[in-house]
Amino acid sequence: MELRIGVIGIGAMGRDHVDRINNRVNDARVTAISDINQEEGLKYGAEIGAEFISNAEDLIASDEIDGVVITSWDPTHEEYVLEAIKNNKYVFCEKPLSVDSAGCMNIVNAEVEKGERLVQVGFMRRFDRGYEDIKKELDKGQLGEPLLLHCTHRNAEVDSKYDTPMAVENTAVHEVDALRWLLQEDFVQAEVILPKKQTTNTHANLHDPQFMLLQTESGVCIDIEVFVNCKFGYDINCKVVCENGEIGLTNPTYYSIKTENKDYKRVPSDWKERFIEAYDKEFQLWVEGIKQQRITGPSAWDGYMASVTTTALSLARDTGEKTTINFEEMPNLYKQEQFV
Ligand code: NAI
Repeated sequence: MELRIGVIGIGAMGRDHVDRINNRVNDARVTAISDINQEEGLKYGAEIGAEFISNAEDLIASDEIDGVVITSWDPTHEEYVLEAIKNNKYVFCEKPLSVDSAGCMNIVNAEVEKGERLVQVGFMRRFDRGYEDIKKELDKGQLGEPLLLHCTHRNAEVDSKYDTPMAVENTAVHEVDALRWLLQEDFVQAEVILPKKQTTNTHANLHDPQFMLLQTESGVCIDIEVFVNCKFGYDINCKVVCENGEIGLTNPTYYSIKTENKDYKRVPSDWKERFIEAYDKEFQLWVEGIKQQRITGPSAWDGYMASVTTTALSLARDTGEKTTINFEEMPNLYKQEQFV
């Protein structure tokens, strides 16, 4: 049976997900869309053969929709996810689950009250082959205990709307989730260093680069460089230093070029290119989850834990102090699938 999917928010990410659901994911098709921009919505709906429903709540409540994808602006996520839970609808929500931890907790509480998982959050790095392979190796245990992680998150450039807080909330949030999943433990302390020396390619409202430090419950230390005007491409690195060795990501490239006395490999231009396979896999898993009525991808609890961590990082940046990360106790609903 082909699942009928409704997508709310048909900007860059929404259209990307529509394309993958319609063309690369099995057993699902986008049959309805919604967006506050009615003109664009009607035009795009006609283009992809999906009904345009101007009111997103009507799309969520529709009997002709089996699953909802939320790719509207961040502040709208919480309301739509809660509406989906109220209507017993499976919902895939792009990160962040809500703009703050209290909002994420509202969603966790609503799901716990329902007694079943309906929400999957768009933390696609867990589906990236590189991260998956690192996790498998760490789980085998031969490398010994992880001690230190060195990570970089670099974008070629960002637009003038991208400001200092976004380096945590929109960028490092991916490391926050992926590393918690990789290490299978929570973070307890955050610190942010804003280097005095900045790139001349930045603008008044963006401190670039930034250096973030996290420590886990067992004491693993992590540094994350966020540098969003690095100029050369989208460059994601993660090295785990263990007791008996080191393991790290390589940038997946499928060819190298030799020309003019150079031998070089391509650096991906953006996240869509770098993580295309991971996005496809996260959606396939979501569709399988709906069919089997058992969602196992990143949960509302993971969305909450990411939020408490990014909130602590933001506070650490604003105060210049090391910040303790506090969180609620995990409800039983999430214990079984934790770190799957
Ligand atoms: P965008 O600005 O290109 O598109 C957002 C769309 O949502 C627009 O068409 C806008 O009209 C619509 N919209 C806004 N408020 C709405 C509402 N109340 N109801 C219905 N539609 C509404 O933004 P983009 O880049 O597509 O980002 C969308 C979401 O995806 C964001 O939450 C962002 O954080 C997330 N994202 C996730 C990425 C990932 O790697 N997982 C990468 C990029 C974005």
